[in-house]
Amino acid sequence: MLADYTLESSSVPVHTTTVLDDEEKEALRTEIRLLIERQNAVLVAHYYVDGDIQDLAEETGGCVADSLEMARFGRDHSAPTLVVAGVRFMGETAKILAPQKRVLMPTLAAECSLDIGCPPDEFEAFIADHPDRTVVVYANTSARVKALSDWVVTSSVGLRIVEHLAANDEKILWAPDQHLGGYIQAETGADMLLWRGACVVHEEFKASAMADMRRVYPEAGILVHPESPAAVVAMADCVGSTSQILKAAGDLPHETFIVATDRGLFHKMRQANPQKRFIEAPTAGDGATCRSCAHCPWMAMNELRELRDALRDGSNEILVDLETAERAILPLRRMLDFPTP
Ligand code: 13P
Ligand code: SF4
Repeated sequence: MLADYTLESSSVPVHTTTVLDDEEKEALRTEIRLLIERQNAVLVAHYYVDGDIQDLAEETGGCVADSLEMARFGRDHSAPTLVVAGVRFMGETAKILAPQKRVLMPTLAAECSLDIGCPPDEFEAFIADHPDRTVVVYANTSARVKALSDWVVTSSVGLRIVEHLAANDEKILWAPDQHLGGYIQAETGADMLLWRGACVVHEEFKASAMADMRRVYPEAGILVHPESPAAVVAMADCVGSTSQILKAAGDLPHETFIVATDRGLFHKMRQANPQKRFIEAPTAGDGATCRSCAHCPWMAMNELRELRDALRDGSNEILVDLETAERAILPLRRMLDFPTP
């Protein structure tokens, strides 16, 4: 049986965010705006990073998006420098898709438990044991793992792409997120062999505590990212990527939502729907061992000071070796070229 690649909670870093007063924040925001202009850079941010960084991205002509749209935006934007506020695989994806651009990140320490839980050498051996399967990997993986794959997918297109592959009778080897893989398998009926990785943030949402919460807010809609356990996904009114959750928060008629994803997304959900109420899904409950309750410790490492430093010093540049990048761009392009409605 395949080994369990979920991270021990003791190996999840504890990140303490620096508390800044309003004056310090404003000074940093001003400096960052100037540096973005001076460096001819564009800021590409994920929904899970600090709200101030999300706002700066939008104000300065950058974007705040899910991982698929971040990849597309970075590839298509004309700026020679991309500053990616997110986790490392997002910076690597940007570099692979636009090798001529300089890609900087506020920190290179921002990893992802799914990426860590899929070591390339072990994954290569797993593929070698199953040569009859099409290799589909989640975007939350290293450049080397992408280079071993046939398809890269994100949570917003994974289901449709697997549906397409299953319709062609392809058997799939899926990595690394067992929950997203299990969800797609259940929805599509595809023949999928699953790697056993997990997101340390989403895995902590608890169905039993969610049921208790639903009794307190019976009128609430439930929005769930598919990296969550199956029992939590089963309770959802909408299961989707960060941008699909954001859209559902506006489209669904509910005035209150219980949301099972990183709380960073609440910034945009509240901006877009000031009249609605958003409540964090519970991570506590029987057996809870929460080390990163509803907030990714690696996403939290993207702070204003680090962003300023990277722009000012040109530090934390993402580099991907040419051979890996040339191989990894193929499954990434396949995903980006896949027709979406
Ligand atoms: P999205 O593609 O939905 O933004 O997800 C990325 C991610 O890391 C979720 O944990
Ligand atoms: Fe990875 Fe989970 Fe953090 Fe997303 S929230 S970057 S999947 S650890």
